[in-house]
Amino acid sequence: MGRIFKVSRSANNMLEEAARLLVKSRFAIAFTGAGISAESGVPTFRGFNGLWKKHRPEELATPEAFEKDPHLVWSFYKWRMDLIRKAKPNPAHYALAELEGIGILKAVVTQNVDDLHREAGSRNVVELHGNIFRVRCTSCSYKENLKESGRLEAFLAERDLPKCPRCGSLLRPDVVWFGEPLPRKALEEAFKLAETADLVLVIGTSGVVYPAAYVPQIVKEHGGKVIEVNTERSGITPIADVFIRGRAGEVMEGLMEKVRVMLNGGGGFSDRLFRGRGWGD
Ligand code: OAD
Ligand code: ZN
Repeated sequence: MGRIFKVSRSANNMLEEAARLLVKSRFAIAFTGAGISAESGVPTFRGFNGLWKKHRPEELATPEAFEKDPHLVWSFYKWRMDLIRKAKPNPAHYALAELEGIGILKAVVTQNVDDLHREAGSRNVVELHGNIFRVRCTSCSYKENLKESGRLEAFLAERDLPKCPRCGSLLRPDVVWFGEPLPRKALEEAFKLAETADLVLVIGTSGVVYPAAYVPQIVKEHGGKVIEVNTERSGITPIADVFIRGRAGEVMEGLMEKVRVMLNGGGGFSDRLFRGRGWGD
């Protein structure tokens, strides 16, 4: 009993400290990975039940794999597209959108391709690894966002390999595969944000895939604070000023309650901005 109290009290202290750092920050950014979408039902890559436990990345997420067996690679990506299109943002995604709305968070830098940040209402989203709903031509410059063009359903139902409507070549997912460079503009933007930020909120990433994982390190090197939310320790934990162990959705809900109370001085702040639970309970 005593132990449970102690653990929860220390978790509470961590939340307090994280909320205090966030509220007094001048330029906070978030850095997210697959773990933030786990509670939305999107499988992570590593760890228990991770995607890379069931499939070998070199068979599915490399340019060589696509060259060798485009049918296999496309069936994997269509399966993920279908799964992700049914997924809904969870309280962690909403919390980040809310923090941006309040003016605390300036951007979300994400390794995720699932679009859930934007769906939750985040505006300034930097996607380092592409977007699963976008396809691009392997020959010409054709690109299409299937969600925006309204073709997603038909695309998923089609059994033949997808071809470019402009030149007839094979289409591929507009995501970054192993061994491929990251989109230059997004990477530059992410690094610039990291250099400017005085705080980074790192949520649900193993922090082992580079160059993305440089983002929190750059913030730290420039004197910024690192707050991490993860169910496990990660490659980022050694540089974290505050590590909050727990599920992203649950932790972020608790954190937002603290932030609201702090902004609010305990009551009276317009609750128009805020989604979800009230404060003070
Ligand atoms: P990983 O699958 O490597 O890591 C997911 C992290 O989320 C782990 O550290 C888990 O402990 C944590 N986690 C799981 N469930 C969680 C929850 N409910 N709340 C909080 N944390 C949770 O995913 P990423 O770090 O995003 O790249 O992987 C990085 C990149 O590797 C991906 O973008 C992808 C992959 O290969 C490409 O596709 C290029
Ligand atoms: Zn083309």
